[in-house]
Amino acid sequence: MCGIVGYIGEQNAAPILLSGLKKLEYRGYDSAGIAVQEESGIKLVKKEGKLNKLNEAAEKELFNGGTGIGHTRWATHGRPSDLNSHPHADSFSNIVIVHNGIIENFRELKDKLSAEGQDFVSETDTEVAAHLISYYYKDDLKNAVQKAVSELEGSFAMAVMSNTEKDRIIAVRKDSPLIVGIGDNENFLASDIPAYLDYTDDFYILENQEMADIKKDEIKVYSFTGELIADKKRTKIDWDSEMAEKQGYEHFMLKEINEQPESLKWLLQDRLVDGEIDLSESGLEKDWLSNYNKIHIVACGTAYHSGYLAKYLLEDMLKIPVEVEVASEYRYRNPLVDEKTLLIVVSQSGETADTIAALRLAKDMGAAVLALTNSRDSSIARESDKVIYLNAGPEIAVASTKAYTNMVAAFYMLAVDGMRQKKNIDPQKVKQYTADLIKLPELSRQMIVQSEEKIKNIAETYAKKSNIFFIGRNTDYTLALEGALKLKEISYIHAEAYPAGELKHGTLALVEEDVPVVALGSRIDIFSKLFSNLKEVKARGAETLLITIEGQSYDKESVDYVIELPELNQYFAGLLAIIPLQLLAYYTALICDKDIDQPRNLAKSVTVE
Ligand code: G6P
Repeated sequence: MCGIVGYIGEQNAAPILLSGLKKLEYRGYDSAGIAVQEESGIKLVKKEGKLNKLNEAAEKELFNGGTGIGHTRWATHGRPSDLNSHPHADSFSNIVIVHNGIIENFRELKDKLSAEGQDFVSETDTEVAAHLISYYYKDDLKNAVQKAVSELEGSFAMAVMSNTEKDRIIAVRKDSPLIVGIGDNENFLASDIPAYLDYTDDFYILENQEMADIKKDEIKVYSFTGELIADKKRTKIDWDSEMAEKQGYEHFMLKEINEQPESLKWLLQDRLVDGEIDLSESGLEKDWLSNYNKIHIVACGTAYHSGYLAKYLLEDMLKIPVEVEVASEYRYRNPLVDEKTLLIVVSQSGETADTIAALRLAKDMGAAVLALTNSRDSSIARESDKVIYLNAGPEIAVASTKAYTNMVAAFYMLAVDGMRQKKNIDPQKVKQYTADLIKLPELSRQMIVQSEEKIKNIAETYAKKSNIFFIGRNTDYTLALEGALKLKEISYIHAEAYPAGELKHGTLALVEEDVPVVALGSRIDIFSKLFSNLKEVKARGAETLLITIEGQSYDKESVDYVIELPELNQYFAGLLAIIPLQLLAYYTALICDKDIDQPRNLAKSVTVE
């Protein structure tokens, strides 16, 4: 989704803005631009397409100025084009802005401002904000921005410059994230932390409805109503910029797949005290389970798939009813929520607009909210009552891998912690499950090593196909959903996941000679059922890949490829099964020569609904 950068200081702003945009590429975008204040006025360049086009254009402009803003745009209002790209200016080229989010009342405002004589040149909602700020501008940019934002509806993060007030940037945040990086006689602005980790680890994280008045040697933070927030807290970020780089891997996605053993370790290490799970740091009481009579899990995309897996797990292990739903649906119905409901929201970024809206809805209805998120200080972290941080480190590739495994592992921890609270559970069982959790980092490392070469071979065949099916039962079905999503996200090959037993009720019609079917068989209790379904597709000529626990016996004739999972209890083996599916998506997309880290049309952080 769109990215914002800003710089104000002694150095030439343009290369710093361009380097910040490069770091934000992972968010997904279709055009980009920068604007720099020069002696003669604000100079602006913007281009549809990838950043190399903007870099070429910027080089010709010979930018020379120490204050500037930049943007990567992911089109919402108006198609991707040079004209619709940000920054946008008012009719007098005095106000220049970049914006993330959506201005919902832009039509009314556009009509009003057009009647006042302002000319609009783009199809965007953003341009309305530039004209509105211009309308209110007398001699103080902060006042004008403050008046304008009080009229804007929707979600927005904006950075604003004026030609008549050189060396000043005003940044505002409503729902869409924005951070201010603090330097030495220079300051930075960005929608996401990785943009300027090379320059600083010291940030102000703007809260909702806050604005920052940024000069090179001073940052003042105000509320939208104009009060100075004198005690604004600074946040030290302990990621180094190398953590956000590729470290020799061809793609961030492959790097992140390989980081899973390490990131699982980070998740578990802080939550294990004397060999027992301890979630007190997340705000969960020792007996949290007894406070609720149902759980709702709400999320989007890959995070939703982790929640779907958790539904099976929590219901089975804790005997509590669990509903799971995608946030964009949940938010627009009337879910049955009360004070005895625990809402669990799952979000890597912590900024997904639909998930935030669902959270607010359930909270208003009395639910307690537990967040599983990878982003400290994100909107979801701040608005939730309790937070389990995923500790996966920065995830850059659009297709989520290590955040997903940590989401699933966090649900495992929650399930085991819940089990401990149940009266009729054998404490030995809890001990055994905890010991299994501790094995996950090492087993996931083995899984990567054992499956990578095999998967590369299978990918050679899959890259030539146009339809691939994934089947599984119970938690394996949810893994099938995630495996299919990974594959289609980055290879653009059509992939569909089905509950194995349901295939014959329609979709089996599509299975014919050589169509690949991936069968997930980590659930040993129902393996024979899954295997009957595998035989059904084999009988129709399908090419089958079976993923199951080592030592499992089955009729080898029906299986073309097999990937074996190290032995682990069947509740937790799914986490290992996802690794070959991630690798399969990766190597298939690699052979298909696709843009793996930034697949077309997709964004890492979806801050619009
Ligand atoms: C986007 C990303 C997905 C992600 C989903 C939810 O669609 O491309 O990879 O799973 O958003 O994101 P979240 O940050 O809430 O986990």
